Amino acid sequence: MPARLRARLAADFERFKAGLPPDVAAVVRETYGVDLSGEYAGCSIRVPFGKASGQLSMTEDAVEADAEAGLGFVVLKTVIGEDASGRRTMESWAVRASAMKVEPIVSAAGRQGWTVTWKGRGWDKSFDAYLDLYRAALRIGAAAGIPVAASIKCHLPPVGEPFAEGEYANTLARLAAVGGKELIVEKDFSPTLAGDARAASLEAIDRWLAEVPKLIRAQAPLTLGLKLMNALRGDGLQVEMVRAALAAGADFLVLFNRLFDPRRGVAYGGWDLSDRNLRVLDVCRGLSRPPLFSATGNICSGRVMAEYALRGATSGQLHTYFQLPLSAYPATAGSRSARALHALLFHPEEGLVAWLLSLGAAGVVQPRDGLLHFLDVAHGAARHTA
Ligand SMILES: Cc1cc2nc3c(=O)[nH]c(=O)nc-3n(C[C@H](O)[C@H](O)[C@H](O)COP(=O)(O)O)c2cc1C
Repeated sequence: MPARLRARLAADFERFKAGLPPDVAAVVRETYGVDLSGEYAGCSIRVPFGKASGQLSMTEDAVEADAEAGLGFVVLKTVIGEDASGRRTMESWAVRASAMKVEPIVSAAGRQGWTVTWKGRGWDKSFDAYLDLYRAALRIGAAAGIPVAASIKCHLPPVGEPFAEGEYANTLARLAAVGGKELIVEKDFSPTLAGDARAASLEAIDRWLAEVPKLIRAQAPLTLGLKLMNALRGDGLQVEMVRAALAAGADFLVLFNRLFDPRRGVAYGGWDLSDRNLRVLDVCRGLSRPPLFSATGNICSGRVMAEYALRGATSGQLHTYFQLPLSAYPATAGSRSARALHALLFHPEEGLVAWLLSLGAAGVVQPRDGLLHFLDVAHGAARHTA
């Protein structure tokens, strides 16, 4: 990186600890010649970092804070689908859980990161309450110019049993009545599902991936994302799931949700998660159609975001990094989302601006229209092997 820009980055990192400028993407473009635009669910987003589905996207206040912090997009907590009579086949995912614990975790390779330990699962209030949240979140998103996605979990039957189609029909119809042409839905294949007996059969997983997108699309026009789990099997199955999800016609993929520890009965993250995801994504680049996708899993720095982008990620969705103790962020003011974004972008060694400038200096991305574009990293990854 040129010395002049390195000094400028160090100064901005210090200066913005007290608060990011209102249009941070414009500042980065003008100061560093870097275009941070990413893409999520077919929408252009100002910065590639968004809020992943979970405990931090359950209230209007949380969405408001994310929009104000300047995040690129928000995915709401997963709601458990229900049919018109209120029956939920995935009822056992709608549990109210004990408090979450944010704790350090050491990976198999000996690297210390963070994980959130929690026994809960999906949205535990009523479907009507979810629709109220979705309506409010869409309004906030429209005002801020950021996409907001709903997330669902509907019936995933064992082999030989039919899908509860009424559950898909009712869930999608009600979301579509609120979302209209803005309807973006992530279908969540979660880590707790990976630990469930119904996911022990490869045939069942194959069938879900082949049938669920068709079932969902039959109910309403929408932009459909499939968020794939990390199954309790080898890397080969992950690649197969990506191939199957693409063939089934998902509009976008979210790769890959947290790991599951069957012994403790909990999902976890940290460096084991990003190590596995990046390793599998390396293999996915060899597919005849390498995926462009939204990355998830231990995005705790701009550097990790760049690693995912080098494998085709056009955006990244974070949970754990938005939940750390305040003392873990270098910023001294603002919401957790704002503090996190400050480090994700401006950290002089680990931030995304530093990494994009370095990728530019190394010739991995070439300037276009006088700017280095984050999205060119992802598109370059997809092109390389195509
Ligand atoms: C406490 C907690 C709750 C979560 N709940 C959901 C959920 O309801 N739906 C979903 O798709 N992912 C859920 N996730 C997964 C996150 O959206 C994210 O994909 C995953 O944690 C990996 O990102 P991270 O390493 O930044 O946490 C949850 C994660 C955590 C830690």
